[in-house]
Amino acid sequence: MPTIASDATWWRQAAVYQIYPRSFADSNGDGIGDLKGITAKIPYLVELGIDAVWLSPFYPSALADGGYDVDDYRNVDPRIGTLEDFDEMSAALHAAGIKIIVDIVPNHTSDRHEWFQEALASPKGSAARERYIFRDGKGENGELPPNSWGSIFGGGAWEQITEPDGAPGQWYFHFFAKEQPDLNWDNPEVHEDFLKTLRFWADRGVSGFRVDVAHMLKKNLDPAYDALRTLMFGEASVFHDGQHPLFDRDEVHEIFADWRKVFNEYNPPRTAVAEAWVPAHRRARYASPEGLGQAFNFDLLQADFDAAQFRKIIADNLAFAAESGTSSTWVFSNHDVIRHATRYALPGNAAKAGAQWLLDGGDPAALDIPRGLRRAKAATLLMLALPGSAYLYQGEELGLQEAGQIPSEQRQDPTFFRTQGEQIGRDGCRVPLPWEPDGTSFGFGPAGAHLPQPEWFAHYAASVEEKDPASTLAFYRRALALRHELQGAETLVWEQASDDSVLHFVRPGGWHVVANFGSAPVALPAGEVLLVSADVEDGKLLGEATAWIRA
Ligand code: BGC
Repeated sequence: MPTIASDATWWRQAAVYQIYPRSFADSNGDGIGDLKGITAKIPYLVELGIDAVWLSPFYPSALADGGYDVDDYRNVDPRIGTLEDFDEMSAALHAAGIKIIVDIVPNHTSDRHEWFQEALASPKGSAARERYIFRDGKGENGELPPNSWGSIFGGGAWEQITEPDGAPGQWYFHFFAKEQPDLNWDNPEVHEDFLKTLRFWADRGVSGFRVDVAHMLKKNLDPAYDALRTLMFGEASVFHDGQHPLFDRDEVHEIFADWRKVFNEYNPPRTAVAEAWVPAHRRARYASPEGLGQAFNFDLLQADFDAAQFRKIIADNLAFAAESGTSSTWVFSNHDVIRHATRYALPGNAAKAGAQWLLDGGDPAALDIPRGLRRAKAATLLMLALPGSAYLYQGEELGLQEAGQIPSEQRQDPTFFRTQGEQIGRDGCRVPLPWEPDGTSFGFGPAGAHLPQPEWFAHYAASVEEKDPASTLAFYRRALALRHELQGAETLVWEQASDDSVLHFVRPGGWHVVANFGSAPVALPAGEVLLVSADVEDGKLLGEATAWIRA
């Protein structure tokens, strides 16, 4: 059994690197990244200087939603490896001082999960159906869905089954794809099984869990809510008091209080981070020490590149985190959003411009790539200086851009299919990484890649950036190494900045951080310039750049 360091607070200011296993490194040439591929890249992760990896799902799955449709929570997809490969990877990561966070997907199983298969084969009202959310349809013969609720991936949120006797049958609820039936968290058996899954991975040396759509587990499907036009943006979006039929219900925290008891059975206690898309003032409940411990804060990810927005978000989130006795998390990119180097390369400031760019064809020629990268590096350097945990997404350390031009027939995201292409989906940030500037799949593996890699991926190859002291990779390595050295108490003091487009704060030990969101160069405080995201000219920080200074 791998041992893990006994520091119980390691996560509070950790740099966590998200690996999307299918797209990281492929050891066996099947076009799909695998656990042995991750093990082989541990020297790269060590050089990068991260504290932990978060692995997106690697469990058996039909990949109806990139692995977030789990067939078996306590196993490894044979295309990705075996449990022995997991143990080997885990031992090697721990030997290298890197901890592991795994993704737990409790809101829904896949439709191939043995429970769902049993539910389909069992009669209406059976215990097997009670693990999910089944309802009779409306209309004369139950041919209409129970209500008009929609799936977030497009289309309706109910799917009709065929009963074991061949007759058209009941409907089940799926907030995501139809291959992802929602579990019924009022059922104690569901509870028990997830506790078993948490122990299974904790016993294997996992230090923490990323909890997928943590805010959705408890639901109130009372027909009184059926009339709500749309659950996302219509009348129902007015509920922010724990009473929404699907989101952020107060009872959800009863589940996490039980999980916490399991985490605390271990030494050091296991930790977790909630993926909870809730307003900032509701986040603390998920992040409390009696709950999951931390929650994702997606505020910077949704903000424009704008000093005032950044400042408010930082101040609010530090306050919310302190109130609940935790530390904040910060993130710009993950497997669900357009890479931030690309978002910032779009004209204007609107963070949402990416969706339109994808619809317009995702042409890299439409991007101001130098500007996107300049702003992304400035934002990242600012974020890496904040108290709290920094979440980085594979490829951002290379300055990788979103792959916007994937032919329809090669797309994989259910959003693309369920909206008939009205939404392009998330494949562009999931394209396998370029490790080499040439060769089949740019060194991702000995053969092809499961999503097509554009020619221009060659410019971002890790092996080239490794040799270039001016590369984005060299910049990330330097920033992460310095962060380790400089990070102390979780406090920050704002300084008066020279103008509204500049943020200036100080961390303990005289670590000054100046971020210039404007275009005019600004003067820097006196001291040693430790790192800048762009050049300093005549002692001034250029526009759209951040500097770390030791006073
Ligand atoms: C994950 C997505 C996934 C969804 C359903 C999330 O929020 O990050 O990638 O599609 O949950 O599991």
